[in-house]
Amino acid sequence: MDAFRISNLVKKYGSVVAVDDLSLAVPSGSMFGFLGPNGSGKSTTIGCLTGLLDPTAGAIEILGQPFDTNSIGLKRRMGVMPETLGLFEPLYAHEFLAFVGRMFGLDEATTRTRVSELLQALELTDSSKTLAEYSTGMRKRVAFAAAVIHSPEILFLDEPFESIDPAGVALMKQWLRRFTAQGRTVFITSHVLETVERLCDAVAIITRPGKLVWQGDISVLARDGAIAFDGQEFRALEPLFLHLTGQRYADLNWL
Ligand SMILES: Nc1ncnc2c1ncn2[C@@H]1O[C@H](COP(=O)(O)OP(=O)(O)O)[C@@H](O)[C@H]1O
Ligand SMILES: [Mg+2]
Repeated sequence: MDAFRISNLVKKYGSVVAVDDLSLAVPSGSMFGFLGPNGSGKSTTIGCLTGLLDPTAGAIEILGQPFDTNSIGLKRRMGVMPETLGLFEPLYAHEFLAFVGRMFGLDEATTRTRVSELLQALELTDSSKTLAEYSTGMRKRVAFAAAVIHSPEILFLDEPFESIDPAGVALMKQWLRRFTAQGRTVFITSHVLETVERLCDAVAIITRPGKLVWQGDISVLARDGAIAFDGQEFRALEPLFLHLTGQRYADLNWL
């Protein structure tokens, strides 16, 4: 079964086409990487998939049901770490996470336990600072906690590892592996291709404006295998990504 399907998705911002006729199906239980250069439409697609943005055209189906910005029942079964993080900055981390837990329908006791366990595990126990006073990495940790607190069935993570220290990344990867081992789905964007290569079992690569150029299983790369494409053999994700998205060298004579 598919965790979600996107059919012919189009998203325009005024006259700017950010996503152009994108179709994609992501199987349940997969750790799925969504890759593309800056400005290729990844965050816009995630916005449409999580109800933060209204698509211009096309259809989205999540967990077998049609999805739109009003699908409250489905939204409770999903977690999202958006690019903009979506934190409420005047609050302390424990207040914000308690608010998110209650909003997702957790009872008070469960919310209290999970907030405390998440803050401990993510080393966010310094309660003297509000979210506005946290470092970027700490804010990202809070956003990650907010995405998982209700134990969702699908997790959408937009560049979750950037600005997080190595210990934090290792912890998050361990949690994500456990999450998919239970049959739940992770959809993740990242520019750190080594991480994607080791973590994800499949990827989709898009180019501007939101056009799918390749989708496939990459688990063979972790087993020293190769992916054949365009008559070439790719043994790592980076050369495949650069081949598909157009590698450029520009020399600046003053640099
Ligand atoms: N709020 C917005 N208003 C206008 N254009 C936008 C807005 N958000 C994104 N875009 C444009 O949409 C395109 C895709 O952006 P985005 O989805 O953020 O790409 P990515 O996440 O892959 O870097 C870019 O051309 C970007 O300039
Ligand atoms: Mg983005």
